[in-house]
Amino acid sequence: SLIPLRPLLEASMRYGFGQGAFNVNAAAQAKAAIEVHEMFRSPAILQGADLANGFMGGRTDFIHAALEDKKAGARNIAAVVKKHAENASVPVVLHLDHGRDFDSCVAAIEGGYTSVMIDGSSLPFDENVELTREVVKYAHPRGVSVEGELGVLAGVEDHVFAASSTYTNPLSAVEFFQKTGVDALAISYGTMHGASKGKNVKLRKEIPVAIRECMNHLGIFGALVSHGSSTVPKYIVDEINALGGELEDTHGIFIEELKAAVGCGINKINVDTDIRLAVTRNMKELFAARPQLRSSPSVGGIYELLETKKNQFDPRVFLTPIMDTVMYGTVKDEDRAAIVDCI
Ligand code: G3H
Ligand code: 13P
Ligand code: NA
Ligand code: ZN
Repeated sequence: SLIPLRPLLEASMRYGFGQGAFNVNAAAQAKAAIEVHEMFRSPAILQGADLANGFMGGRTDFIHAALEDKKAGARNIAAVVKKHAENASVPVVLHLDHGRDFDSCVAAIEGGYTSVMIDGSSLPFDENVELTREVVKYAHPRGVSVEGELGVLAGVEDHVFAASSTYTNPLSAVEFFQKTGVDALAISYGTMHGASKGKNVKLRKEIPVAIRECMNHLGIFGALVSHGSSTVPKYIVDEINALGGELEDTHGIFIEELKAAVGCGINKINVDTDIRLAVTRNMKELFAARPQLRSSPSVGGIYELLETKKNQFDPRVFLTPIMDTVMYGTVKDEDRAAIVDCI
């Protein structure tokens, strides 16, 4: 069944495990993700961000204009996930990732999401509190869980700040929980989004430890979320590059660091990049194994993009030119099956 995030967070805290949360950008991915979780007898957290919802709403220009269609996309993916969750042997959470404003959260909730993230991390503390509190006020009465974010993850865009000045302040995190009533909080403690997280990243595990100790002392509930947690497996990067890709400077978070972070109070671990890398690899393998597809009128456009955007690994970029044909059925059946397989 489809459940909110909160009960999973409570279980994570009680039994001391970290729950993976995986981004999906297509209905086929959601189905596959649920099946994998069933194999491992694990509950599932599937998450879609605004862009993903735009993409699933059918916008081929999703990078720029998809946001208008995020409502349709939220409905599309929620319907699919709900159908699969009803028949699944494990509970499933459908969570909005990095909701950018109140409207994004409302669109997701109306579409059928059972949990939302409101990412006010770029706002001053008080404004972040205000916005997040509004979302909690809307979501909680509807049975929907809420994740907030405090602190700025290090990243290529953050060159304005010294990396250390963007870590989450533990006392501010506790105050944020108290003032907003969020179920979960994304913290900045050394992880980073994307495939270039820097060599030998050491996580600042004293940050979740300090938050957890304060929270326990005060008797407040609040789970901690580790974003930017992909491990960026070297063998997948190597396979992409062996098939003509040009991915450089790729480094993930060591799995040992993530395991240690769980012991230090991290409850939810977000992974997107690793899946994007694997799908990109799969698409390249498909065209290597079936050269006749390269000039196919329905899917040849994917191959052209794979060949020209060699340092890209967001499958949506490659799927964009043929999305209409995939979604609306004008693609040949055997080609569609191949595409869906590799997503
Ligand atoms: O943390 C961000 C996620 O990887 C979602 O990315 O906005 O490209 O869908 P997206
Ligand atoms: P990665 O880019 O490390 O996969 O992080 C994903 C994430 O934080 C989604 O919110
Ligand atoms: Na953020
Ligand atoms: Zn994130």
